[in-house]
Amino acid sequence: MEALTEKQRQMVSWVAISTTLALLLVPCPVSCERQCNFPAIFNFGDSNSDTGAISAAFEQAPPPNGITFFHNPAGRFSDGRLVIDFIAKSFGLPYLSAYLDSVGSNFSTGANFATAGSTVRPQNTTRSQSGYSPISLDVQFEQFSGFKSRSKLVRNAICGVFKNLLPKEEYFSEALYTFDIGQNDLTAGLKLNLTTEQVKAYIPDVLGQFSNVIKNVYGEGGRSFWIHNTGPLGCLPYTLDRYPVSAAQIDEFGCAKPFNEMAQYFNSKLKKTVEQLRIELPKAAIVYVDVYTAKYTLITHAQKYGFDKGVIACCGHGGKYNFNNGARCGASKMVNGKKVVIAKSCKDPSVRILWDGIHYTEAANNWVFQQIANGSFSDPPMSLTRVCHGNASIPYH
Ligand SMILES: *[C@@H]1O[C@H](CO)[C@@H](O)[C@H](O)[C@H]1NC(C)=O
Ligand SMILES: *[C@@H]1O[C@H](CO)[C@@H](O)[C@H](O)[C@H]1NC(C)=O
Ligand SMILES: *[C@@H]1O[C@H](CO)[C@@H](O)[C@H](O)[C@H]1NC(C)=O
Ligand SMILES: *[C@@H]1O[C@H](CO)[C@@H](O)[C@H](O)[C@H]1NC(C)=O
Ligand SMILES: *[C@@H]1O[C@H](CO)[C@@H](O)[C@H](O)[C@H]1NC(C)=O
Repeated sequence: MEALTEKQRQMVSWVAISTTLALLLVPCPVSCERQCNFPAIFNFGDSNSDTGAISAAFEQAPPPNGITFFHNPAGRFSDGRLVIDFIAKSFGLPYLSAYLDSVGSNFSTGANFATAGSTVRPQNTTRSQSGYSPISLDVQFEQFSGFKSRSKLVRNAICGVFKNLLPKEEYFSEALYTFDIGQNDLTAGLKLNLTTEQVKAYIPDVLGQFSNVIKNVYGEGGRSFWIHNTGPLGCLPYTLDRYPVSAAQIDEFGCAKPFNEMAQYFNSKLKKTVEQLRIELPKAAIVYVDVYTAKYTLITHAQKYGFDKGVIACCGHGGKYNFNNGARCGASKMVNGKKVVIAKSCKDPSVRILWDGIHYTEAANNWVFQQIANGSFSDPPMSLTRVCHGNASIPYH
């Protein structure tokens, strides 16, 4: 081997010294922290993360939902996977079965309590009157709590056929708990003809009830929480079509400003609620995730990120935004005694952001997942794989 020149020798020792210094100065660089090894995920929410509950309990999501990935509706309001599916996949876990789905479900690595149309607060209207799910967040918690206690009993039952279908007892404290709910609490007020100011006035009540559920899950042993804020409601064809605003209230990207402001108001209060929860639940790691900004960035820069349109739905039938409340995605009519789908998918859902006017396409969900997974939209700035370390009493990196 050739002898090192003086210059090379200087270089080698400089690298060695600076590496040593860096290790001394940074107590624990991000890379030395262990990745969380979540054995299970329990999810709570609305249609943004429903993987089959409403389809099991009330009515099935019709085709062409699921057309891209599952090749059948698969209980999701999308052409494919949801953000929660990408989260599960990233941990090498199977896609979550809906707790209410009695056919083919395997809950050994988690369960999904989210249902399409869920609100945080129980509504005073029935599902047939207003479309909101009776399985509000408090009910989802009741289901979770029963699921936890019954899992223990049933797993330990003598013949043990459920051993491989239900989570181990310790998974409930080791699991990742994910939440994506709030959007329907906002639209519920709009549906009652309340003004955005009147909706804002009840947000503290919504968040008080949200906070109680987090505390209850903590009481059941939950320690790692990943909480999505609510998306840009004013950019959804559903909102734009159902609650028209004046031209002056539409932003340069076609979104309704008053509803986005309302969503952001909700989010600012949610962030404060999470900060308070960190104080009250010192052993929990609670991460607030700004999904709003990820989604709004995508919708307002669609082409930059390889998508074709911002606020236009892929699957629909007519209307300015390809959204028609009387003929939503999958709607059909009888033609000469045959059922014909009239609200169909656009040609290429992989380049569209919004699927049915309310929900996002698989491509958009994947994009949002990629953005939020590394922690760039998290507070504290934790990536998904390090949530378990985001402890109020331990400084994070
Ligand atoms: C339902 O009605 C009760 C009693 O009037 C009220 O306290 C509650 O806030 C109402 N809930 C909603 C979501 O409006
Ligand atoms: C349920 O899923 C787990 C984890 O993927 C697997 O180990 C188990 O064998 C499955 N149970 C059954 C009955 O297939
Ligand atoms: C809200 O206003 C619309 C239009 O004026 C009306 O048709 C509807 O009945 C109202 N809804 C409620 C719950 O008052
Ligand atoms: C949070 O920090 C406290 C104090 O250091 C520790 O006892 C607890 O186990 C930590 N919780 C998590 C989830 O890391
Ligand atoms: C996070 O991931 C996104 C998408 O891959 C990337 O654009 C962004 O730069 C990443 N941010 C950080 C802080 O690594």
